[in-house]
Amino acid sequence: MKDERKLQSTEDFPIEEPARQYAFMDRLKASLSVRKLAENREFTMHVETFGCQMNAKDSEKLAGILSYIGYVQTDSEDADIVVYNTCTVRENANTRVYGRIGNLGRLKKKHPGMKIVLCGCMMQEEHVIEKIKKSYRFVDVIFGTHNIYMLAELLYRSETEAGRVIDIQSEATRIVEDLPSVQKYDFKAGVNIMYGCNNFCSYCIVPYVRGRERSRRPVDIIRETEALVANGVKEVMLLGQNVNSYGKTLEPAVSFTELIHEVSLVKGLERIRFMTPHPKDLSEALIEEIAANPKICKHVHLPLQSGSDRLLKRMNRHYTKAQYLSLVDKIKEVMPGAAITTDIIIGFPGETEEDFADTLDVVRRAGFMSAFTFIYSKRSGTPAAEMDGQVPEEVSADRMKRLLACIGEVASEQAERLTGSTVKVLCEEYKPETGCVTGRLDNNLLVHFDGCEALLGTITEVRLDECKGFYYLGTKTSDL
Ligand code: 5AD
Ligand code: SF4
Repeated sequence: MKDERKLQSTEDFPIEEPARQYAFMDRLKASLSVRKLAENREFTMHVETFGCQMNAKDSEKLAGILSYIGYVQTDSEDADIVVYNTCTVRENANTRVYGRIGNLGRLKKKHPGMKIVLCGCMMQEEHVIEKIKKSYRFVDVIFGTHNIYMLAELLYRSETEAGRVIDIQSEATRIVEDLPSVQKYDFKAGVNIMYGCNNFCSYCIVPYVRGRERSRRPVDIIRETEALVANGVKEVMLLGQNVNSYGKTLEPAVSFTELIHEVSLVKGLERIRFMTPHPKDLSEALIEEIAANPKICKHVHLPLQSGSDRLLKRMNRHYTKAQYLSLVDKIKEVMPGAAITTDIIIGFPGETEEDFADTLDVVRRAGFMSAFTFIYSKRSGTPAAEMDGQVPEEVSADRMKRLLACIGEVASEQAERLTGSTVKVLCEEYKPETGCVTGRLDNNLLVHFDGCEALLGTITEVRLDECKGFYYLGTKTSDL
């Protein structure tokens, strides 16, 4: 029989996935055990996420692989292996990452054995790779968004080959299922339903760094959800850049409405959220499913980006202000209590005071419960980067101030309406010092109330006594 430990070339490993990755993980696990015994200590990992929930989910997979190999998680960056899962949606995300990599370099000088791994959206950009090669020579492993499942293989190569390992793929060739994952929370989890985006909004770099839309098969999504629920998860968030497009390329095609209904049939699952639908194709069937299905949170995150028809066109969003507002009306008509939240970009090229006034108008008329607001960031390679009328920083900053004031007013008005009502919340945090539990409403707002640790991860009823704008103070009304 072949001595497994003598395997050297990566060609000697299985070709099939995930068997290939498990073989690399087993190999690294064996060598790490030897080092643990020799040095008589634990080996630590630090996985840091920049950016969105898709990245957070990817990080759980990266941590899962490292934990399988035998690393233990630490909050400190002074770890044996540090992974930065990067974001490039806005320029300031990149700047932050560069600063942090510089710090890692200083740490590595003190601990030369440390492994530094960079991955995620930023790594899909050629100019980033060039800069890292030139200015951050101490980085050991670099890969992008399409091959995060290969972490173990790339680490193995880094241990057996001289020099840095760089493996950036331009397109995803496969979806690899059944790799280990370490959840951040015991009671709620994200579940990828699709990867990539085909929309090419003119400001957005995501389609270039995450590739074309690919959907996971319903059977894999359901299997993952069932496994999560069996491990105590009460709430799942179905994740995709544009969930309405789910399943279009599957054989046979499956709609997002059909998928979410099927997920809701998983026994023991109590709550379902989803992120993110695109207003251009949010179907009536989906709105009705959300309304009718008691497990689906009555919360729709519906990115507006701008209220100006002229800008929406330049952004390549494929809807108008009137269409957006009529969608909001439809949601409110079918679900009167529903919370609608949004994303807004300020200072998109060519934005005038009049365009901005349209955005404020939609904020008021839609009655958003909350909003993520962004100052437009020029991303090279996107059509908007070449557009005329780039808005000066101080103009954007001033509009942002006014936008935030407007959202604050509208959102607290919306939140205030629920004061006095009794709602179901998922208990997510307990502070022993104060005996205070924090619960999440189905509209995504938080309530703080007196409780005990046993409530963590349960869904309980709470009366909302006082609204503090973006959160409530409440009293638990159900037994436990
Ligand atoms: N500048 C500012 N905000 C952006 N977003 C995406 N690209 C950019 C950009 N270039 C915002 C959008 C999107 C959210 C995830 O990030 O509002 O909905
Ligand atoms: Fe970017 Fe638009 Fe795709 Fe969202 S829908 S990821 S904003 S291109």
